[in-house]
Amino acid sequence: MKAKAVFICQNCGARSPKWLGRCPSCGEWNSFVEEVEDETAAAVEEAFPPAEPIVFADIEASPEPRVRVGAEEFNAVLGGGVVPGSLVLLGGEPGIGKSTLCLQVSRDFAASGEIVLYVSAEESLDQIKLRGDRLSVGAGPLHLLAETSLERIIAQAEKLRPRVLVVDSVQTVYSGKLASSPGTISQVREVANQIFRFAKRRNVPAFLIGHITKEGSLAGPKSLEHIVDVVLLFEGERDHNHRVLRVLKNRFGPVSELAVFEMTAGGLEAIANPSAFFLKERPAGEAGSAVAAVIKGTRPLLVEIQALVSSTLFAANPRRMTVGLDRYRASMVLAVLEKKLGYVFAGEDLYLNAAGGLEVEEPAADLGVVLAVVSCLKNRPLPPDLAAFGEVGLSGEIRSVGQALPRVKEAVSLGFQTVLLPRANALGCERDAPAGARLAGVRTVGEAVEAVF
Ligand code: TYD
Ligand code: MG
Repeated sequence: MKAKAVFICQNCGARSPKWLGRCPSCGEWNSFVEEVEDETAAAVEEAFPPAEPIVFADIEASPEPRVRVGAEEFNAVLGGGVVPGSLVLLGGEPGIGKSTLCLQVSRDFAASGEIVLYVSAEESLDQIKLRGDRLSVGAGPLHLLAETSLERIIAQAEKLRPRVLVVDSVQTVYSGKLASSPGTISQVREVANQIFRFAKRRNVPAFLIGHITKEGSLAGPKSLEHIVDVVLLFEGERDHNHRVLRVLKNRFGPVSELAVFEMTAGGLEAIANPSAFFLKERPAGEAGSAVAAVIKGTRPLLVEIQALVSSTLFAANPRRMTVGLDRYRASMVLAVLEKKLGYVFAGEDLYLNAAGGLEVEEPAADLGVVLAVVSCLKNRPLPPDLAAFGEVGLSGEIRSVGQALPRVKEAVSLGFQTVLLPRANALGCERDAPAGARLAGVRTVGEAVEAVF
Protein backbone atom coordinates (compact mmCIF):
# COMPACT_ATOMS: atom_id res chain seq x y z
CA MET A 1 0.00 0.00 0.00
CA LYS A 2 1.44 3.27 -1.06
CA ALA A 3 0.14 6.48 0.39
CA LYS A 4 0.69 9.68 -1.53
CA ALA A 5 -0.12 13.26 -0.79
CA VAL A 6 -2.17 15.33 -3.20
CA PHE A 7 -3.75 18.73 -2.97
CA ILE A 8 -7.46 18.75 -3.69
CA CYS A 9 -9.66 21.78 -4.30
CA GLN A 10 -12.41 21.66 -1.66
CA ASN A 11 -14.75 23.50 -3.96
CA CYS A 12 -14.65 21.43 -7.13
CA GLY A 13 -12.45 18.44 -6.42
CA ALA A 14 -9.66 19.39 -8.85
CA ARG A 15 -6.34 17.72 -7.99
CA SER A 16 -2.84 19.02 -8.05
CA PRO A 17 0.51 17.55 -6.99
CA LYS A 18 1.41 20.85 -5.32
CA TRP A 19 -0.40 23.56 -3.42
CA LEU A 20 -2.02 26.31 -5.51
CA GLY A 21 -3.39 29.63 -4.32
CA ARG A 22 -6.15 29.62 -6.86
CA CYS A 23 -7.88 26.65 -8.40
CA PRO A 24 -7.27 26.64 -12.16
CA SER A 25 -10.45 24.67 -12.68
CA CYS A 26 -13.12 26.56 -10.72
CA GLY A 27 -11.30 29.80 -9.93
CA GLU A 28 -11.81 29.55 -6.16
CA TRP A 29 -9.09 31.10 -3.98
CA ASN A 30 -7.39 29.26 -1.15
CA SER A 31 -9.37 26.09 -1.67
CA PHE A 32 -6.55 23.54 -1.90
CA VAL A 33 -6.08 21.22 1.05
CA GLU A 34 -3.50 18.51 1.33
CA GLU A 35 -5.04 15.08 1.51
CA VAL A 36 -3.37 11.74 1.75
CA GLU A 37 -4.75 9.17 -0.61
CA ASP A 38 -4.28 5.49 -0.34
CA GLU A 39 -3.98 4.39 -3.92
CA THR A 40 -4.97 0.83 -3.34
CA ALA A 41 -7.95 1.74 -1.18
CA ALA A 42 -9.27 4.01 -3.89
CA ALA A 43 -8.87 1.26 -6.45
CA VAL A 44 -10.68 -1.44 -4.53
CA GLU A 45 -14.03 -2.01 -6.17
CA GLU A 46 -16.76 -3.97 -4.54
CA ALA A 47 -17.62 -7.16 -6.39
CA PHE A 48 -20.86 -6.35 -8.09
CA PRO A 49 -22.17 -9.22 -10.18
CA PRO A 50 -20.70 -8.77 -13.66
CA ALA A 51 -23.22 -7.50 -16.20
CA GLU A 52 -23.93 -8.92 -19.66
CA PRO A 53 -25.18 -6.92 -22.64
CA ILE A 54 -28.86 -7.45 -23.41
CA VAL A 55 -30.77 -6.72 -26.61
CA PHE A 56 -33.00 -3.70 -26.04
CA ALA A 57 -36.20 -5.49 -27.04
CA ASP A 58 -35.54 -8.25 -24.52
CA ILE A 59 -35.42 -5.94 -21.54
CA GLU A 60 -38.49 -6.30 -19.42
CA ALA A 61 -39.19 -3.01 -17.80
CA SER A 62 -40.70 -3.34 -14.38
CA PRO A 63 -41.69 -0.22 -12.51
CA GLU A 64 -39.36 0.53 -9.63
CA PRO A 65 -40.90 -0.71 -6.40
CA ARG A 66 -41.19 2.10 -3.93
CA VAL A 67 -41.21 2.31 -0.17
CA ARG A 68 -43.41 4.97 1.36
CA VAL A 69 -41.67 6.80 4.15
CA GLY A 70 -42.90 9.68 6.28
CA ALA A 71 -45.49 12.19 5.20
CA GLU A 72 -47.29 11.80 1.87
CA GLU A 73 -45.88 15.15 0.75
CA PHE A 74 -42.39 13.79 1.31
CA ASN A 75 -43.15 10.71 -0.77
CA ALA A 76 -44.58 12.86 -3.53
CA VAL A 77 -41.31 14.78 -3.72
CA LEU A 78 -39.44 11.52 -4.17
CA GLY A 79 -41.81 10.58 -6.98
CA GLY A 80 -44.16 8.37 -4.95
CA GLY A 81 -41.88 6.95 -2.29
CA VAL A 82 -38.21 6.08 -2.07
CA VAL A 83 -36.74 3.37 -4.31
CA PRO A 84 -35.07 0.52 -2.37
CA GLY A 85 -31.33 0.57 -2.87
CA SER A 86 -31.22 4.25 -3.69
CA LEU A 87 -29.09 6.84 -1.98
CA VAL A 88 -30.77 10.16 -1.24
CA LEU A 89 -28.68 13.20 -0.37
CA LEU A 90 -30.53 15.78 1.71
CA GLY A 91 -28.77 19.12 1.58
CA GLY A 92 -29.53 22.28 3.49
CA GLU A 93 -28.05 25.00 5.64
CA PRO A 94 -27.24 24.22 9.26
CA GLY A 95 -30.29 24.60 11.47
CA ILE A 96 -32.83 24.43 8.69
CA GLY A 97 -34.32 21.15 9.95
CA LYS A 98 -32.60 18.31 8.10
CA SER A 99 -32.11 16.17 11.19
CA THR A 100 -35.68 16.87 12.22
CA LEU A 101 -37.02 15.84 8.83
CA CYS A 102 -35.00 12.61 8.78
CA LEU A 103 -35.93 11.73 12.35
CA GLN A 104 -39.59 12.23 11.50
CA VAL A 105 -39.28 10.02 8.45
CA SER A 106 -37.54 7.40 10.61
CA ARG A 107 -40.22 7.72 13.29
CA ASP A 108 -43.05 7.17 10.82
CA PHE A 109 -41.35 4.27 9.12
CA ALA A 110 -40.48 2.56 12.40
CA ALA A 111 -44.04 3.07 13.60
CA SER A 112 -45.12 0.63 10.91
CA GLY A 113 -42.86 -1.99 12.48
CA GLU A 114 -39.92 -1.60 10.10
CA ILE A 115 -36.36 -1.49 11.37
CA VAL A 116 -34.69 1.89 10.89
CA LEU A 117 -31.10 2.78 11.68
CA TYR A 118 -30.49 6.47 12.34
CA VAL A 119 -26.80 7.19 12.61
CA SER A 120 -25.70 10.52 14.02
CA ALA A 121 -22.11 11.60 13.87
CA GLU A 122 -23.04 15.08 15.09
CA GLU A 123 -25.16 14.65 18.16
CA SER A 124 -25.15 12.50 21.25
CA LEU A 125 -27.92 10.04 21.96
CA ASP A 126 -29.20 12.44 24.65
CA GLN A 127 -29.59 15.23 22.14
CA ILE A 128 -31.38 13.01 19.67
CA LYS A 129 -33.56 11.72 22.47
CA LEU A 130 -34.59 15.27 23.34
CA ARG A 131 -35.47 16.01 19.73
CA GLY A 132 -37.28 12.69 19.46
CA ASP A 133 -39.43 13.56 22.47
CA ARG A 134 -40.49 16.80 20.81
CA LEU A 135 -41.40 14.80 17.76
CA SER A 136 -43.26 12.26 19.92
CA VAL A 137 -41.28 9.31 18.69
CA GLY A 138 -43.17 6.31 20.00
CA ALA A 139 -42.46 2.65 20.27
CA GLY A 140 -41.09 0.92 17.20
CA PRO A 141 -37.77 -0.48 16.02
CA LEU A 142 -36.05 2.89 15.53
CA HIS A 143 -32.40 2.29 16.34
CA LEU A 144 -30.04 5.14 17.09
CA LEU A 145 -26.30 5.00 16.71
CA ALA A 146 -23.92 7.78 17.70
CA GLU A 147 -20.83 6.94 15.66
CA THR A 148 -18.38 8.75 13.41
CA SER A 149 -16.39 5.89 11.92
CA LEU A 150 -17.72 4.91 8.52
CA GLU A 151 -16.42 1.36 8.75
CA ARG A 152 -18.11 0.83 12.13
CA ILE A 153 -21.33 2.32 10.82
CA ILE A 154 -21.35 -0.07 7.87
CA ALA A 155 -20.57 -2.98 10.20
CA GLN A 156 -23.48 -2.06 12.47
CA ALA A 157 -25.77 -1.68 9.50
CA GLU A 158 -24.71 -5.09 8.22
CA LYS A 159 -25.51 -6.56 11.61
CA LEU A 160 -28.87 -4.84 12.08
CA ARG A 161 -30.03 -5.01 8.47
CA PRO A 162 -32.38 -2.01 8.68
CA ARG A 163 -35.03 -1.33 6.06
CA VAL A 164 -34.02 2.34 6.00
CA LEU A 165 -30.67 3.86 6.85
CA VAL A 166 -30.07 7.52 7.76
CA VAL A 167 -26.58 8.98 8.11
CA ASP A 168 -26.27 12.44 9.67
CA SER A 169 -24.05 13.91 8.26
CA VAL A 170 -21.68 13.21 5.38
CA GLN A 171 -19.28 15.88 6.62
CA THR A 172 -18.79 14.44 10.08
CA VAL A 173 -18.41 10.75 9.28
CA TYR A 174 -14.93 9.66 8.26
CA SER A 175 -13.32 6.61 6.80
CA GLY A 176 -10.25 5.15 8.53
CA LYS A 177 -8.94 4.23 5.09
CA LEU A 178 -8.09 7.84 4.37
CA ALA A 179 -5.76 10.01 6.35
CA SER A 180 -7.47 13.29 5.53
CA SER A 181 -9.80 14.90 8.03
CA PRO A 182 -13.60 14.56 8.01
CA GLY A 183 -15.38 16.93 5.66
CA THR A 184 -12.63 17.05 3.05
CA ILE A 185 -13.58 16.16 -0.46
CA SER A 186 -11.98 12.73 -0.51
CA GLN A 187 -13.57 11.78 2.83
CA VAL A 188 -16.98 13.00 1.77
CA ARG A 189 -16.73 11.02 -1.45
CA GLU A 190 -15.57 7.89 0.30
CA VAL A 191 -18.46 8.11 2.78
CA ALA A 192 -20.99 8.57 -0.01
CA ASN A 193 -19.48 5.75 -2.03
CA GLN A 194 -19.54 3.26 0.79
CA ILE A 195 -23.06 4.13 1.87
CA PHE A 196 -24.09 3.91 -1.78
CA ARG A 197 -22.63 0.44 -2.05
CA PHE A 198 -24.28 -0.66 1.17
CA ALA A 199 -27.64 0.60 -0.10
CA LYS A 200 -27.25 -1.25 -3.40
CA ARG A 201 -25.89 -4.41 -1.79
CA ARG A 202 -28.70 -4.73 0.74
CA ASN A 203 -31.34 -3.06 -1.39
CA VAL A 204 -32.29 -0.55 1.29
CA PRO A 205 -32.87 3.14 0.77
CA ALA A 206 -30.33 5.35 2.50
CA PHE A 207 -30.59 9.03 3.38
CA LEU A 208 -27.42 11.02 3.67
CA ILE A 209 -27.53 14.49 5.21
CA GLY A 210 -25.16 17.13 3.86
CA HIS A 211 -24.58 20.69 5.05
CA ILE A 212 -24.44 23.40 2.50
CA THR A 213 -23.01 26.85 2.81
CA LYS A 214 -24.86 30.11 2.40
CA GLU A 215 -23.59 30.47 -1.16
CA GLY A 216 -25.58 27.35 -1.95
CA SER A 217 -22.72 25.13 -2.94
CA LEU A 218 -23.02 21.80 -1.23
CA ALA A 219 -19.48 22.33 0.07
CA GLY A 220 -18.12 18.93 -0.65
CA PRO A 221 -21.58 17.48 -1.29
CA LYS A 222 -21.58 19.29 -4.64
CA SER A 223 -19.06 16.73 -5.72
CA LEU A 224 -21.45 14.00 -4.60
CA GLU A 225 -24.28 14.89 -6.89
CA HIS A 226 -23.15 12.46 -9.54
CA ILE A 227 -22.69 9.62 -7.05
CA VAL A 228 -26.07 9.69 -5.35
CA ASP A 229 -29.42 8.81 -6.96
CA VAL A 230 -31.48 11.65 -5.57
CA VAL A 231 -30.53 15.13 -4.40
CA LEU A 232 -33.03 16.94 -2.20
CA LEU A 233 -32.57 20.50 -1.07
CA PHE A 234 -34.21 21.77 2.10
CA GLU A 235 -34.53 25.55 2.05
CA GLY A 236 -36.12 28.34 3.95
CA GLU A 237 -35.45 31.59 5.67
CA ARG A 238 -34.53 31.42 9.34
CA ASP A 239 -37.09 34.14 10.06
CA HIS A 240 -39.87 32.38 8.18
CA ASN A 241 -41.31 29.16 9.48
CA HIS A 242 -41.90 27.60 6.14
CA ARG A 243 -39.42 25.22 4.58
CA VAL A 244 -39.42 24.17 0.96
CA LEU A 245 -38.17 20.74 -0.01
CA ARG A 246 -37.05 20.59 -3.64
CA VAL A 247 -35.57 17.95 -5.91
CA LEU A 248 -32.40 18.82 -7.78
CA LYS A 249 -31.84 15.38 -9.22
CA ASN A 250 -33.81 12.16 -9.26
CA ARG A 251 -32.77 9.06 -11.17
CA PHE A 252 -36.18 7.53 -10.49
CA GLY A 253 -38.64 10.35 -10.82
CA PRO A 254 -39.39 13.91 -11.83
CA VAL A 255 -37.18 16.75 -10.73
CA SER A 256 -38.52 20.13 -9.66
CA GLU A 257 -41.09 18.39 -7.50
CA LEU A 258 -41.68 20.35 -4.31
CA ALA A 259 -43.23 20.15 -0.87
CA VAL A 260 -43.78 22.83 1.72
CA PHE A 261 -43.43 22.27 5.46
CA GLU A 262 -43.96 24.46 8.45
CA MET A 263 -41.59 24.25 11.42
CA THR A 264 -43.68 24.06 14.57
CA ALA A 265 -42.90 23.34 18.20
CA GLY A 266 -43.72 19.69 17.50
CA GLY A 267 -41.60 19.32 14.38
CA LEU A 268 -42.24 19.79 10.69
CA GLU A 269 -45.79 19.77 9.46
CA ALA A 270 -46.50 19.22 5.81
CA ILE A 271 -48.63 21.90 4.28
CA ALA A 272 -51.26 20.22 2.18
CA ASN A 273 -52.31 23.44 0.49
CA PRO A 274 -49.25 25.56 -0.30
CA SER A 275 -51.24 28.04 -2.41
CA ALA A 276 -53.39 29.02 0.54
CA PHE A 277 -50.29 29.14 2.71
CA PHE A 278 -48.39 31.48 0.42
CA LEU A 279 -51.39 33.73 -0.13
CA LYS A 280 -52.48 34.00 3.46
CA GLU A 281 -50.58 37.21 4.15
CA ARG A 282 -51.63 38.89 0.95
CA PRO A 283 -52.86 42.40 1.71
CA ALA A 284 -56.47 42.84 0.64
CA GLY A 285 -57.33 45.66 -1.75
CA GLU A 286 -53.75 46.89 -2.25
CA ALA A 287 -52.50 48.13 -5.61
CA GLY A 288 -49.44 46.43 -7.05
CA SER A 289 -50.32 42.89 -6.04
CA ALA A 290 -51.44 40.17 -8.46
CA VAL A 291 -51.99 36.45 -8.12
CA ALA A 292 -50.28 34.25 -10.70
CA ALA A 293 -51.00 30.57 -11.27
CA VAL A 294 -47.68 28.85 -11.86
CA ILE A 295 -46.56 25.24 -11.98
CA LYS A 296 -43.97 24.08 -9.47
CA GLY A 297 -42.79 20.59 -10.18
CA THR A 298 -45.98 18.92 -11.22
CA ARG A 299 -48.34 20.88 -9.03
CA PRO A 300 -50.07 24.16 -9.72
CA LEU A 301 -49.36 26.86 -7.19
CA LEU A 302 -50.77 30.32 -6.70
CA VAL A 303 -48.23 32.98 -5.83
CA GLU A 304 -48.58 36.64 -5.12
CA ILE A 305 -46.54 38.89 -7.37
CA GLN A 306 -45.85 42.34 -6.01
CA ALA A 307 -44.67 45.37 -7.91
CA LEU A 308 -43.45 48.69 -6.63
CA VAL A 309 -42.70 51.54 -9.00
CA SER A 310 -41.19 54.67 -7.49
CA SER A 311 -39.41 57.63 -9.04
CA THR A 312 -35.68 57.21 -8.97
CA LEU A 313 -32.91 59.33 -7.58
CA PHE A 314 -30.53 58.01 -10.21
CA ALA A 315 -32.20 58.87 -13.48
CA ALA A 316 -29.32 57.56 -15.55
CA ASN A 317 -29.44 54.17 -13.95
CA PRO A 318 -32.83 53.28 -12.43
CA ARG A 319 -33.07 50.13 -10.38
CA ARG A 320 -34.59 46.92 -11.67
CA MET A 321 -34.82 44.59 -8.71
CA THR A 322 -36.47 41.22 -8.71
CA VAL A 323 -36.79 38.76 -5.87
CA GLY A 324 -37.84 35.25 -6.80
CA LEU A 325 -38.51 36.24 -10.42
CA ASP A 326 -36.31 36.02 -13.49
CA ARG A 327 -34.72 39.43 -13.93
CA TYR A 328 -34.35 39.20 -17.69
CA ARG A 329 -37.93 38.11 -18.24
CA ALA A 330 -39.10 40.96 -16.02
CA SER A 331 -37.06 43.49 -18.03
CA MET A 332 -38.51 42.10 -21.22
CA VAL A 333 -42.06 42.43 -19.92
CA LEU A 334 -41.35 46.05 -18.94
CA ALA A 335 -39.98 46.79 -22.40
CA VAL A 336 -43.14 45.35 -23.95
CA LEU A 337 -45.31 47.51 -21.67
CA GLU A 338 -43.36 50.60 -22.73
CA LYS A 339 -43.55 49.81 -26.40
CA LYS A 340 -47.13 48.55 -26.61
CA LEU A 341 -48.97 50.48 -23.92
CA GLY A 342 -46.89 53.62 -23.85
CA TYR A 343 -45.79 53.50 -20.22
CA VAL A 344 -42.50 55.20 -19.43
CA PHE A 345 -40.26 53.53 -16.88
CA ALA A 346 -37.17 55.59 -17.65
CA GLY A 347 -37.32 57.67 -14.48
CA GLU A 348 -38.65 54.91 -12.26
CA ASP A 349 -37.09 52.39 -9.93
CA LEU A 350 -38.88 49.09 -10.21
CA TYR A 351 -39.10 46.33 -7.65
CA LEU A 352 -40.74 42.99 -8.30
CA ASN A 353 -41.21 40.31 -5.70
CA ALA A 354 -42.67 36.82 -5.65
CA ALA A 355 -43.97 36.91 -2.08
CA GLY A 356 -43.15 34.16 0.40
CA GLY A 357 -39.63 33.47 -0.77
CA LEU A 358 -40.55 31.22 -3.68
CA GLU A 359 -38.60 31.04 -6.92
CA VAL A 360 -40.90 31.60 -9.87
CA GLU A 361 -39.00 31.27 -13.10
CA GLU A 362 -41.82 30.18 -15.36
CA PRO A 363 -42.75 32.41 -18.34
CA ALA A 364 -46.37 31.78 -17.37
CA ALA A 365 -45.83 34.26 -14.53
CA ASP A 366 -45.38 37.10 -17.07
CA LEU A 367 -49.03 38.06 -17.10
CA GLY A 368 -48.99 38.30 -13.31
CA VAL A 369 -46.03 40.67 -13.57
CA VAL A 370 -47.92 42.80 -16.12
CA LEU A 371 -50.95 43.08 -13.86
CA ALA A 372 -48.93 43.85 -10.74
CA VAL A 373 -46.95 46.58 -12.50
CA VAL A 374 -49.96 48.19 -14.18
CA SER A 375 -51.98 48.00 -10.97
CA CYS A 376 -49.18 49.80 -9.15
CA LEU A 377 -48.83 52.46 -11.86
CA LYS A 378 -52.55 53.15 -11.90
CA ASN A 379 -52.69 52.84 -8.13
CA ARG A 380 -55.73 50.65 -8.53
CA PRO A 381 -56.06 47.27 -6.84
CA LEU A 382 -56.99 44.26 -8.92
CA PRO A 383 -60.35 42.55 -8.45
CA PRO A 384 -59.99 40.36 -5.33
CA ASP A 385 -61.08 37.19 -7.12
CA LEU A 386 -58.66 37.47 -10.06
CA ALA A 387 -55.80 35.11 -10.88
CA ALA A 388 -53.75 35.19 -14.06
CA PHE A 389 -51.24 33.25 -16.11
CA GLY A 390 -49.75 33.55 -19.59
CA GLU A 391 -46.46 34.16 -21.34
CA VAL A 392 -45.80 37.61 -22.81
CA GLY A 393 -44.15 37.68 -26.25
CA LEU A 394 -42.07 40.49 -27.69
CA SER A 395 -44.91 41.81 -29.85
CA GLY A 396 -47.12 42.09 -26.82
CA GLU A 397 -48.97 38.89 -27.57
CA ILE A 398 -50.10 36.63 -24.74
CA ARG A 399 -48.88 33.14 -25.61
CA SER A 400 -50.46 29.95 -24.40
CA VAL A 401 -48.70 27.87 -21.77
CA GLY A 402 -48.83 24.20 -20.76
CA GLN A 403 -51.04 22.70 -18.07
CA ALA A 404 -53.68 25.41 -18.25
CA LEU A 405 -56.49 23.37 -16.75
CA PRO A 406 -54.73 22.45 -13.48
CA ARG A 407 -53.91 26.14 -13.02
CA VAL A 408 -57.53 27.16 -13.57
CA LYS A 409 -58.73 24.48 -11.16
CA GLU A 410 -56.24 25.52 -8.49
CA ALA A 411 -57.30 29.16 -8.83
CA VAL A 412 -61.01 28.39 -8.62
CA SER A 413 -60.55 26.01 -5.69
CA LEU A 414 -58.98 28.86 -3.74
CA GLY A 415 -61.76 31.28 -4.54
CA PHE A 416 -60.23 33.01 -7.57
CA GLN A 417 -63.24 32.64 -9.84
CA THR A 418 -61.97 34.97 -12.55
CA VAL A 419 -58.98 33.72 -14.44
CA LEU A 420 -57.19 35.88 -16.97
CA LEU A 421 -55.38 33.60 -19.41
CA PRO A 422 -54.16 33.29 -23.00
CA ARG A 423 -57.03 33.10 -25.48
CA ALA A 424 -55.90 29.73 -26.85
CA ASN A 425 -55.78 28.27 -23.34
CA ALA A 426 -59.21 29.69 -22.56
CA LEU A 427 -60.70 27.90 -25.57
CA GLY A 428 -58.95 24.70 -24.60
CA CYS A 429 -60.16 24.76 -20.99
CA GLU A 430 -63.69 26.01 -21.49
CA ARG A 431 -65.33 22.60 -21.53
CA ASP A 432 -63.60 21.16 -18.48
CA ALA A 433 -63.30 24.26 -16.33
CA PRO A 434 -64.97 23.97 -12.93
CA ALA A 435 -68.48 25.35 -12.59
CA GLY A 436 -68.55 29.02 -11.71
CA ALA A 437 -65.16 29.79 -13.27
CA ARG A 438 -65.06 32.91 -15.41
CA LEU A 439 -62.36 32.53 -18.02
CA ALA A 440 -61.19 35.73 -19.63
CA GLY A 441 -59.11 34.78 -22.67
CA VAL A 442 -56.84 37.55 -23.99
CA ARG A 443 -54.53 37.80 -26.98
CA THR A 444 -52.41 40.84 -26.15
CA VAL A 445 -51.16 42.78 -23.14
CA GLY A 446 -53.47 45.60 -24.29
CA GLU A 447 -56.50 43.34 -24.11
CA ALA A 448 -55.36 42.04 -20.73
CA VAL A 449 -55.08 45.51 -19.19
CA GLU A 450 -58.37 46.57 -20.73
CA ALA A 451 -60.16 43.45 -19.48
CA VAL A 452 -59.06 44.11 -15.91
CA PHE A 453 -59.09 47.86 -15.49
P1 TYD B 1 -32.34 20.60 12.95
O1 TYD B 1 -33.15 19.46 12.43
O2 TYD B 1 -31.42 20.31 14.07
O3 TYD B 1 -31.52 21.29 11.76
P2 TYD B 1 -30.29 20.72 10.89
O4 TYD B 1 -30.19 19.27 11.13
O5 TYD B 1 -30.68 21.06 9.47
O6 TYD B 1 -29.08 21.48 11.32
O7 TYD B 1 -33.39 21.74 13.33
C1 TYD B 1 -32.94 22.83 13.99
C2 TYD B 1 -34.00 23.86 14.27
O8 TYD B 1 -35.33 23.42 14.26
C3 TYD B 1 -33.72 24.38 15.65
O9 TYD B 1 -33.49 25.77 15.51
C4 TYD B 1 -34.94 24.08 16.45
C5 TYD B 1 -36.00 23.88 15.42
N1 TYD B 1 -37.03 22.91 15.84
C6 TYD B 1 -38.33 23.32 16.03
O10 TYD B 1 -38.66 24.48 15.88
N2 TYD B 1 -39.28 22.39 16.39
C7 TYD B 1 -38.97 21.07 16.58
O11 TYD B 1 -39.84 20.27 16.90
C8 TYD B 1 -37.61 20.67 16.37
C9 TYD B 1 -37.19 19.25 16.57
C10 TYD B 1 -36.67 21.61 16.00
MG1 MG C 1 -28.60 18.28 12.12
